[in-house]
Amino acid sequence: MALWGGRFINESHELFKKFNTSLSFDYILAEEDITASIAWSKTLAKSNIITKKEQIIIESALLELLIEIRDNTQDILTSNCEDIHSWVEENLINKIGELGKKLHTGRSRNDQITTDLKLWCRNQINILLKNIIELQKNFILSAECNHDVIMPGYTHLQRAQPITFSYWCLAYVEMLRRDVSRLKDVLKRLNTSPLGSGALSGTAWKINREELASSMGFDSATNNALDSVSDRDYVVELLSSASISMMHLSRFSEDIIFFNSGEANFIELSDLITSGSSLMPQKKNPDALELIRAKCGRVHGSLISILVILKSLPLSYNKDMQEDKEGLFDSIKTWNDCLCIAILVLKNVKIKKQSCRKAAEEGYSNATEIADYLVKKGVSFREAHNISGQLVLRAISEKKSLNDLELSTFQIYSHLIKDDIYKNITLESCLEKRSSKGGVAAAQVYNQIIKAKKRLNIF
Ligand code: ARG
Repeated sequence: MALWGGRFINESHELFKKFNTSLSFDYILAEEDITASIAWSKTLAKSNIITKKEQIIIESALLELLIEIRDNTQDILTSNCEDIHSWVEENLINKIGELGKKLHTGRSRNDQITTDLKLWCRNQINILLKNIIELQKNFILSAECNHDVIMPGYTHLQRAQPITFSYWCLAYVEMLRRDVSRLKDVLKRLNTSPLGSGALSGTAWKINREELASSMGFDSATNNALDSVSDRDYVVELLSSASISMMHLSRFSEDIIFFNSGEANFIELSDLITSGSSLMPQKKNPDALELIRAKCGRVHGSLISILVILKSLPLSYNKDMQEDKEGLFDSIKTWNDCLCIAILVLKNVKIKKQSCRKAAEEGYSNATEIADYLVKKGVSFREAHNISGQLVLRAISEKKSLNDLELSTFQIYSHLIKDDIYKNITLESCLEKRSSKGGVAAAQVYNQIIKAKKRLNIF
C-alpha cells in the first residue's frame, strides 16, 4: 500500500502509478535517505518521542539496509514503491515491524526529499571539486613542459599574435579556478538543513533542529519552513555552475579539435581517446572532444528546464518539483565524466613544436610589432598601424613573411625603419615584450605557474 492509502477508497490506475513514481531515478538517493532517517530517529529519541531503545533498533535496521543496498543499489528498482522514501520505510518495517512505522513522526516527504537532495549535492560537489582540481593540475603540468612551444594565438580564428602552448594551458587554469570558486559558493549557500520543516509550516513536535542540522554536517538549520520545502535554488545554482564549467570544457574541446585538425596540425591526439572511420582508413577522429563539446548542450538544457519548472510555481511543495532530479543527476554525471575525459586527453597529447612555430611565423602575427616599433620612433599608433598593414599586403604579394622582406622594401613604407627592425619582430621578441601582468612573456608565464602550483599545493 502507498504511504497515504488511508484516505482512498480505490487503488491508483496502473498508468498513473507509473507516471507518478520517482523511484526509477531517486533510488540513487538511498544512502542519503537512510543517513537523514538515522539522524531523524536520534532527534525523535532526544525529544522522547521514541525511546532510546527503539532508536537503537531503528538505527541498526537502517544501517543493515544501507549495507544491503550499497553494492546492489539497482535492486531497489525491482520494487514497486512510489519513491525512495517509501522504499526505505517499507524495508524498515519489513525488518522491525510496527516500530518502523514510528519513524515518520513529525516528518514529511517534503522536508525529506530536499534534505536528501542537499546531502547528495554536497557529496557530488566534493567529487567535482577533486576532478576540477585534477584537471587544473594537468594543465599546469602541460604548461611547465611546453613553455618553449610557440604557436599562433587567434582572434576570429585568424592568426593574431604569437603565444606559447603553456600560456594557452594557463588560460584554462584560470577558467577552472573560477569554476572551483563558483562550486564552493554553491556549497556555502546550500549547506543548511531543511529537516524538521515538516510539510510546509514546521513540525509540531519539540525538536532541536540546529542539533539535527549539525549532526548531518550542515552549517545550520534553515530559517523558514515554507521556504525550506519550496527552495530548489541550490539545484539551479549547481546546474548553472555546471553549465558554465561545461561551456569552458566545450571551448577546450573545440580548441583541441582545431589544433588536431590536418589544417592546424599542432598536436597529435593519443589512440587512447580517438576512434577510426569504418570507411576511411586514414582517419583518427577526436570523438572524445566532440562528445564533450556536444554534452555541454544537455547540461545547458537541464538548467533551462529547472528554471522553467520553478518559474511561477506557487509556494510551497508541488509535484512539479519531482522533475528537478533527472536533469540534475544526468548533468552532474556528465560533468564528472567530461572532466575525467579531459584529463585523459591532456595526459596523452603530443605537441608538435616545429609545426606550431611554423604556423606562428607564417601568419603575420608580428604585424603589431612593426606598428609598435614605429610608435617608439615617434609615429602615431594609427599611422603606424596603417604602415604595418601596407607592409603585410606587400609581404602577401611577395609570398613572404614580414621577417623576410628586404630592408629597402621596409623603407619604401617608412624611412624610420632601420636594420634593427628584424630583431624587433622575431617571435621571441614579440613574446618577451609582453611582460606586464598577465602577458605572455616567459617570466609572467613562470609566475602564473608558480602561483597556481602554490594554490593547489603542488611542489
Ligand atoms: N518524489 C517526490 C519528489 O521527488 C518526493 C516528495 C513527495 N512529496 C509529496 N508531497 N508527494 O519530489
